[in-house]
Amino acid sequence: MKGNERLAMSGSQISLRGIKKSYPSGKLETHVLRGIDLDIDAGDAVAIVGPSGSGKSTLLNIMGGLDSQYTGKAHVAGQDLDQLNDRQLSLFRNQKVGFVFQQFNLLEHLSCQENVAIPAVFAAGGVADPQGRAHAALERVGLGDMGPKLAANLSGGQKQRVAIARALFCQPEILLCDEPTGNLDSRSGRQIIELFTELNRNEGVTLVTVTHETRVSEAASRVVSIEDGLLQSGAVAHGDPDDAPDDDDDDDDGGDDGQ
Ligand SMILES: Nc1ncnc2c1ncn2[C@@H]1O[C@H](COP(=O)(O)OP(=O)(O)OP(=O)(O)O)[C@@H](O)[C@H]1O
Ligand SMILES: [Mg+2]
Repeated sequence: MKGNERLAMSGSQISLRGIKKSYPSGKLETHVLRGIDLDIDAGDAVAIVGPSGSGKSTLLNIMGGLDSQYTGKAHVAGQDLDQLNDRQLSLFRNQKVGFVFQQFNLLEHLSCQENVAIPAVFAAGGVADPQGRAHAALERVGLGDMGPKLAANLSGGQKQRVAIARALFCQPEILLCDEPTGNLDSRSGRQIIELFTELNRNEGVTLVTVTHETRVSEAASRVVSIEDGLLQSGAVAHGDPDDAPDDDDDDDDGGDDGQ
């Protein structure tokens, strides 16, 4: 318990200590994470960068309670994740964190509104007015008039907005995003970055984003780099995201919303 108390006292919204993760590989083991210590404060916007296979998604999944097969301590949003049983972990994922993935992971045969309201199915005790709440979440991402439209008929940028609305449905403290712009064209990607920045600055949502894209890490307040399963020293503080250089590869700011 001493370790837990120490983590709880750190005051960080996300506090990882000595996180290790291995996969069996024949008679040997592949050590994916080899002892990660990381603190992230509430309202922070952190980018996690590193080569392919370095363990970025693995680390994000551990933070979000999607993966509990690791050693070390993960204290996230007031919870010691290793102390939670399966039901409590699922409640944690439902209430405390929102996930955004590269592949959007929408149910294509459902409407936008229905996709966004999916977390209501898993919420303990149900959710009052799930449809009204889904509509409000769609409005937050600029798709207030798209509720009835089938997810299959959306552009990539629109799909990612719906996925973000779904992640916001239960009003999580933390958004965990794995390559959220990886499948988007330049303009849609920029709009998604702007949306994240707005959610972070105006609503105080903590952002942890795994990315290969410089423009995503430039919009973060802190960049941590992972290599060979270890965080590298020299994490960069970028300061105010306003100071980040502009992405000039596309000067058309017009949106694809509401199409
Ligand atoms: N289920 C698994 N079984 C065995 N090895 C795995 C499994 N899942 C991931 N790995 C290995 O763990 C390592 C880290 O994977 P991870 O997906 O976290 O990398 P990543 O940094 O997110 O890479 P990318 O940038 O390509 O998404 C990789 O070497 C991968 O092959
Ligand atoms: Mg990955």
